[in-house]
Parts: sequence; structure tokens; C-alpha cells
Amino acid sequence: MKKSTWQDNGIINRYRDMLPLKASTPVVSLGEGSTPLVYSSWLSKSIGEGSEVYIKCEGLNPTGSFKDRGMTVAISKAVERHVRLVVCASTGNTSAAAAAYAAHAGISCAVLLPYGKIATGKLLQAFLYGAKIISLHGNFDDALSIVRQLSKDPKVEIVNSINPLRIEGQKTAAFEVVDELGEAPDFHFLPIGNAGNITAYWRGYREYFTCGKCSILPKMIGFQALGAAPLVFGHIVQDPDTIASAIRIGNPASWRLAASALNQSHGFVDAVTDMEILSAQVQLARKEGIFVEPASAASIAGLLKCVSKHSELPIIRRLKEGARIVCTVTGHGLKDLNTPAGTGMCPIESDATVDSVRNILEIG
Ligand code: F0G
Repeated sequence: MKKSTWQDNGIINRYRDMLPLKASTPVVSLGEGSTPLVYSSWLSKSIGEGSEVYIKCEGLNPTGSFKDRGMTVAISKAVERHVRLVVCASTGNTSAAAAAYAAHAGISCAVLLPYGKIATGKLLQAFLYGAKIISLHGNFDDALSIVRQLSKDPKVEIVNSINPLRIEGQKTAAFEVVDELGEAPDFHFLPIGNAGNITAYWRGYREYFTCGKCSILPKMIGFQALGAAPLVFGHIVQDPDTIASAIRIGNPASWRLAASALNQSHGFVDAVTDMEILSAQVQLARKEGIFVEPASAASIAGLLKCVSKHSELPIIRRLKEGARIVCTVTGHGLKDLNTPAGTGMCPIESDATVDSVRNILEIG
């Protein structure tokens, strides 16, 4: 029997029968998935009597974001098809994941990134994993449009979520939620950027529902940053702008699919301000010990906004009446070290003596 290794815990080996892969498809895995679903007593109390809020911590994936779930499937298929070059446009996390999985597979990777708009940690990841980094004088939407044109070349494999294999891999996060809770939640909150992830979760829940693994389907609730909220406004945003650089997108590729996920699930999409995002980021760190990047905090900011500002809507009343809620936080806080939430950071200096430290701690 093959010796068990940690790679065996990746999402392909866990959910292979639910993925469009042959038995012979090679597995390129870094052990992604199986991320923590953390019960939040702070958020549960904030919502109301009997409600349960869980946080799906996708920053605990190998490259620090949910993108690894889709990338293991996309790169495995690329290897099966003997592709030598994978390419993506990115606001940072997709490029980090693509570069890492391509490195692991021994194939080349090129990433198109909006110039000056990528969090340092993500840029460093792509660089160290050995990707060719193209810094584009344009935004993410421009980069994706170029990538779409490159996709006509059979020598190149696009690993953005316009590649359906990415969505296939990402749907496994919904499987994990149901496997752990024993049922789908009543509500699922998540940030929306290019709109692939909400599409993927909805597909995952529906597939599990169809094969009897859950008996309800959640309402999908998406949040965009106010300066980059095309789904909320119903039109393309030409110059998207938000502190949450990962979701600074004005023309999401999976717009239509996300809209149907929102409709079919009887959910909705709304926007949160940068201030609300940053406040949620800090509160989540202080109250639960979970450090996420700003874009990820949009789901938490959204939940808090629903409770404080929309509390009279019937859907929100339902949310407060003992509902089970999952919020996905999509990326790790260490990726984006320039977030304004850090500007107040001020360590207390001390002499290297126990008395000085005692004084500071006010323990005599
Ligand atoms: N959260 C984070 C941390 C992200 O990196 C992204 C997307 C999203 C949320 C939104 O997910 O696009 O599926 O709606 N990042 C992409 C990237 C665009 O290039 O890394 P989505």
C-alpha cells in the first residue's frame, strides 16, 4: 500500500468522486482544504438569542487563501494535458496560488497584476514561487481581458476562475461546511470580487443537496466594497477603488453565475464601506483571534451591517431567530501588512529588567 503522506489530505483525494477528474489524473496538491470552521461566540451573541455563527477560515490554506482549492484541480488537469505554461490575471491571491502549484508541478507560470495595487505579501509569494510577474499599467479588469485573449493559444492554460476547474475545486469548501455541521447553514456570507467563490459555494451546496448530504440550502449573502460594487449597482464600475485590494474589481467574470446563485438561494448582495471593512477586521482579530486580510473582513462587516442597519427586513429577522450562519473569511491577514488598521500599532518600550516590565503591567 502507498505510504500515507500529508498531501493525501488535499481536496482532490478527499472529494475526488465529486470532481471532474479521471482516476488517472495526477494530483498536484499542497494539502489544501480541511480548513477550520470556528464557532464565534462574539458574533453569535451579536446576532441574537440562539443564533450560531461559524467562521470558515480559508486563510489557513497552504498559500493563505481559498484559491488553493481551485488551483489544485486546475494545475492537476494542466499537468494531465501536458501544459507547460499557466497564466492568470490577479489582485494577488490567485497569482500566489497559481505560482505555488505551478512550482510544485514543475511547470511555468506568468501572472498579470495591476501595477502598484498588490499587497506586498502576495507579490512576494508570486516572486519567490518563481512566477514571471507582469506588472500591468491597468486594473484587474484590464488584466483579465488580456488573459481572455491569451486563452485562445492552446499552449497556454488560463487558471483564473473563468477556467471551470477552479470553481469545481472551490465548491469543496461548501462540502466541508456540511460535513462538519451535519447540515447546510441557513445563511452563508462571503465577500465578492470576481464572483467565482459565491458561484462555487452555491454549486457545492446544490450538489450535496442533490445527493442527499443536506436537506436545506442556504441563502447566499454576498458583500462587495462600496467603491467596487458592480453587482450592487447593476453596472460595471470603471475605476473600482477600495482599501480591500483583493476585491477591487469593476466587471466580475462570474457576474451572471453569481447573480443566479443570489436569486436561486433567495439571498442578496450589498456593499460595505472601507471603514466598516477595517473595523470588522480589527474586531475579528481582537474578539476571536482570527487575523484576516481586509477583503475577507467584508463578510463579517456585512453580517454586522445586516444586524445593525437592516434589522427590520424579514430576511434579517429570520437571521436573528436562531439561525445557523457561516461567514467565509477568504485570506490570511499576514498577506497585507500595509492595512491602515496597523497604523495605530505602538509597542510599549521597556528596559530589559523585570521591574520595568512589572511597572508596565501594573503588577507592582
Ligand atoms: N477574498 C479574497 C482574499 C480574494 O483574494 C478574492 C479574490 C475574493 C475575496 C473574492 O473572491 O473573486 O471569487 O469573488 N481574489 C482574486 C485574485 C480576484 O486575483 O486573487 P471572488
